Amino acid sequence: MTRTRYSTVAIGLHWLIAAAIIFQVILAWRMDGRTPQGFALIQLHKSVGISILLLSLARLAWRLTHRPPPLPAGMATWERWLAKVAHIGLYVIMIGLPITGWIMVSTSRIQVPTLLFGMVPWPHFPGLAHLVGPAKTAWNSFGHTGHEVLAWGAYVLIALHVAGALKHQLFSRDEPVLAHMAPGAKPGRWFDPRLIAIAVVALGVAAAAQTIRPAAQASKPLPPPPVVEVAAVDATSAPPPVVEVAAATPAVQAPAEASVWTVSKGSTLGFTTTWGGQAIEGRFDRWTADIRFSPEALDKSKVSVSIDLASAVTGDSQRDESLKGGDWFDTANHAKATFTANRFENTGTDRYVAHGQLALRGVSRPARLPFRLQIEGDKARVSGVTSLDRTAFGVGQGEWTKTDQIPADVKVNVNLTATRR
Ligand code: HEM
Ligand code: HEM
Repeated sequence: MTRTRYSTVAIGLHWLIAAAIIFQVILAWRMDGRTPQGFALIQLHKSVGISILLLSLARLAWRLTHRPPPLPAGMATWERWLAKVAHIGLYVIMIGLPITGWIMVSTSRIQVPTLLFGMVPWPHFPGLAHLVGPAKTAWNSFGHTGHEVLAWGAYVLIALHVAGALKHQLFSRDEPVLAHMAPGAKPGRWFDPRLIAIAVVALGVAAAAQTIRPAAQASKPLPPPPVVEVAAVDATSAPPPVVEVAAATPAVQAPAEASVWTVSKGSTLGFTTTWGGQAIEGRFDRWTADIRFSPEALDKSKVSVSIDLASAVTGDSQRDESLKGGDWFDTANHAKATFTANRFENTGTDRYVAHGQLALRGVSRPARLPFRLQIEGDKARVSGVTSLDRTAFGVGQGEWTKTDQIPADVKVNVNLTATRR
């Protein structure tokens, strides 16, 4: 018996994939990763694209094990060849486009992990994630160029494919081609219900892709901070605890030494900024602080803080991963930032300013931290906020050097409690 249509599985996969590709292309035209909305659109594009890859591989396997219906006998040889080449080309598009997209995001400087539909973790392309230097750049431009070229190929082939299907449907009364994929379609009928349904669904999918506004991943509230690791200070070199001497007797007072402090658990080192107007609150979960400080011995006080930049969390794992990348902290080359202060100024009751150097991402610049300090016996409470110009340290490369989406000024806040040793 001659087959007059594709199998139900082949038909289902054809229309599902066709709809997904229309959606995917329209979505791609709206993507701009610099805005929170654009970033969310890229994440959706990745999820839909990987789904197309899996469906297309299943479809190819099905195709290779199930014979299609024969083409109408009246078709010219050149038409048969064109149909064949176009079909093979469409398989190359359906599989090649997602693979090149996958290669592109797996070798990107931004290092955003793929979480399909915000739920299912998807790995980077095997063997490419850990590349560095020129090899990584080469694969990235291969992925990028390949994706762009195949996207153009898709426009041409899909137009040709649809034109071919329409030609047979509208003008060739005795060549039932659309009926192969849309059983029941009568060739020669312009207002065939199946043809109208296909057009309506295609327009609906395009409109959905044009208007969908995937929720820009809202930051989850940050979990409580882990125990802060405190730098070990050599006990033998630690000065003895300072004896607080009444201010009225400075003349007989021995020269004061700075106390050594141990930072208590629950202390935080945070930062705040905005992205496209949306507030982002972040925190470093691993940092160490070596603190020698006494209000009576400001000249002998010294504070040194070392921050593990890979420990930055902002309540969104995809964003946190990209913060480590070359465009932001570049932790592969600059794992730590350090702030060293050795000049302290008393600016009012319990108020001080620490002056020092901040080394971040290979740039060292003067930085100041105004803070409030309250000491009760052997316990101290410190809170301070300062503002840093991220662009001065190269935090935010490429498009991110622009400050329209993420301002240059980032607020850094410190809240710690410490115990005198
Ligand atoms: C069949 C599936 C896919 C189709 C039809 C598709 C289509 C497109 C199109 C038309 C563009 C715009 C190209 C341009 O003008 O530069 C684009 C860009 C992009 N696609 Fe896909 N894509 C697919 C799968 C994927 C997958 C699976 C990923 C990643 C996992 C991906 C990641 C990207 C990225 C990151 C861009 C932005 C590139 C840039 O920076 O300009 N795509 N895609
Ligand atoms: C937009 C993305 C589309 C892709 C990637 C695509 C891909 C394909 C492929 C690869 C085949 C060959 C099937 C095989 O032998 O395994 C096919 C067949 C077919 N497609 Fe599409 N298609 C798309 C859209 C459409 C649209 C919009 C129409 C109708 C207007 C259509 C009508 C058909 C028909 C009638 C066949 C059967 C042709 C025959 O029996 O030779 N396709 N399509």
